[in-house]
Parts: sequence; structure tokens; C-alpha cells
Amino acid sequence: MTMNPQRVLFVCLGNICRSPQAEGIFAQLVAQAGLSQWISCDSAGTSDYHIDELPDPRTRDVSLRNGLTLQHRSRQVQAADLDDFDWVIAMDQSNLAALQRLAGGQRRRLSRIHLLRSFDPQSPDLDVPDPWAGGAGGFDRVYAICLHGCLGLLPQVAARVRAAPKPT
Ligand code: 4NP
Repeated sequence: MTMNPQRVLFVCLGNICRSPQAEGIFAQLVAQAGLSQWISCDSAGTSDYHIDELPDPRTRDVSLRNGLTLQHRSRQVQAADLDDFDWVIAMDQSNLAALQRLAGGQRRRLSRIHLLRSFDPQSPDLDVPDPWAGGAGGFDRVYAICLHGCLGLLPQVAARVRAAPKPT
């Protein structure tokens, strides 16, 4: 069977809380599924507020408690990312709108952009709430929300790995 490698980019505002959290969780699920050879992931922010920083200490803390060491350095999302990544996963509707503007009206780019929580059939809400200005509890909540979104996303990405390539 021909395999189609898939690239997944998680995007939030600062790229220090929600999107590196989702990236780390997704990479762990991909590894547990034995698909690391076929699915790669990264994260980025719509802003340039925290370029080259490690994730927020509160994000790293909840990650460590769940067996994840995050080493991502924050970067700003570029229009070229919408060409390079097969899946561009926004954490909230504001990130979604920023990515849609960045797509410059190109249908192929727009079709790659999704909301993380749209992959969680149990989710009562569309947004992963921004935890940055709140307390530590918000980071535990973000972890759980990202886990549920990633659990829904993985089968869809994995199905694309195994699907026959579309004619271009
Ligand atoms: P994130 O959280 O978008 O989940 O990384 C934030 C981090 C920093 C800021 C806002 C949100 N900030 O305004 O600096």
C-alpha cells in the first residue's frame, strides 16, 4: 500500500500554552499508535509575542505530570505553513479567523484549517480557552481538552495516511 505522510500544525495565539500542549499530546498518541514514521507535527502562534521561548512553566508542569517533556520553541505561523502542512489545527475561533486571513483566499489552504474541538464529539464548546492570564487549574483543563481533541483527530489523520493519494 502506498502511504501518504501527513503533517499536522497546531496553532494558538502565543504558541507557549495551548498549541505546544496539543502538539506534545498528539506526538505521544502518534508514537503510541506506531505512526511516527508517517505523521509529524509542529506548533506555531498567530502572534510574535513569545518568539523562541519554551512553553509556559505551567504548561510544562502539567505536561511533566502526564509524562510529556515539551521542548518546542515558539514561532510565528507563516502563510507557507498553510502550503506545507496537511492539517492546520486552530485552538480557538480567533486563531481560526487569523489563519483564514493568512490563507489569502486560497481554497486549498482554507480547506486544511480546522478547530481542534471540532474533532471531539463530546465537546460542548468550540474553543480551547486561553489559560495564560488565569490560574494553574486552567492549564489542567487545557490538557484534558487537548487530549480529547487529539484523540478524535488522530483516526482522521491516520485514515489519510492510508488513503489513496488524490490526483493533483
Ligand atoms: P497561548 O496563550 O495562545 O495558548 O500560547 C497565550 C500566551 C501568551 C499570550 C496570550 C495567550 N500573551 O498575550 O502574551
